[in-house]
Amino acid sequence: MNAPTLGQLELARQLIADGAPAPSAITHVDAAAYTDPARHRAEQERIFARVPLVIGPSALLPEPNMAVPHDGFGKPLLIARDRDGTAQVFLNVCRHRGTRLVEGNEPVCAPRLICPYHAWSYTLDGKLAALPRAESFPELDKADFALKRLPTREAGGLIWFSFDEAADFSEAEALGPDFEAFAMPRQHLFRRRTHDVPANWKLIMDAFLESYHVQRLHAATIGPFFKDGVNTADTIGPHQRSAVGRAAALAAIDGADWPALRGAITYTYQLFPGTVLIVSPDYMNLMVMMPQAADRVLVEDFMLIPEAPATDKARDHWERSWALLDGGVFAAEDFRAAALGQQGLESGALDRITLGTLETGIRKFHDAVEARL
Ligand code: FES
Ligand SMILES: [Fe+2]
Repeated sequence: MNAPTLGQLELARQLIADGAPAPSAITHVDAAAYTDPARHRAEQERIFARVPLVIGPSALLPEPNMAVPHDGFGKPLLIARDRDGTAQVFLNVCRHRGTRLVEGNEPVCAPRLICPYHAWSYTLDGKLAALPRAESFPELDKADFALKRLPTREAGGLIWFSFDEAADFSEAEALGPDFEAFAMPRQHLFRRRTHDVPANWKLIMDAFLESYHVQRLHAATIGPFFKDGVNTADTIGPHQRSAVGRAAALAAIDGADWPALRGAITYTYQLFPGTVLIVSPDYMNLMVMMPQAADRVLVEDFMLIPEAPATDKARDHWERSWALLDGGVFAAEDFRAAALGQQGLESGALDRITLGTLETGIRKFHDAVEARL
């Protein structure tokens, strides 16, 4: 197991000491931030079109010469890992006459991607490798017909990209050491599923920025494991990092024992703008938010485990964890609460929502969003 970062240890120390000192004031967020279509467009133009976005875990493409289409961000994208292992994001569009290159949304494993229309073929670094009847394109230089590439970085077991050629990835790369501590780059992708949630994307982020609801909304699932309202958090650039403790295990712990801390503490990372990583003691869930409208978001949930299950027993174990988190805690509880929030806010009953002192992570998140609008 890799060593923890100083930041991870500091959150653990605060948790064992019973949480960080709470700030004292209540604050508010305008209801329109969740319901106004103009606000949605502004977020798309000024945030999602500009900053680095997580598109998936490295484990989505575990081998060289793999690619997977991705459509949630409004353009047909293709995430590819080339022969040398480098991951890049391309537009999933053939350079001949603009046909979608790879259909569906499942990973494909092949040394070349072949357009279904006239069979132009591309290697997984995006280069045009060959075209049938090449003599019919006199003087065509294949070097001018590579797939359109978007800026991409793979760091700490995540693949980030941006629609903006000038995007700065330093704040994404700054998270690398934390994710290395969880061995993120070596995880196995067990399951993935895209949820279509009738709620503003920020309502889902909000649900992963406070632990106030854990004993209430999650009373039938994971609530009883955690200490009520005890959490700690800090920031890494625009991103947030928080920790909640398992009551029974925290009591007995030595603050420097990383495997023991991993067993007692659930770390959560809120990656700006719309990604959440939840690090349970033995597996992780990565959730990528893809806003579609003010009142609709696609959320892709990836479950990452340390290694591929070798036995039926191991597979059953992970299937139960997947069903508990993805189907139970997320879909039936957090995402449902977000959809109910959208229904209520759309009614116009509230001009603004109210945040207590256990909800300051939400305040910080909305400040970061608003600072960019
Ligand atoms: S459009 Fe792709 S080969 Fe013609
Ligand atoms: Fe929750």
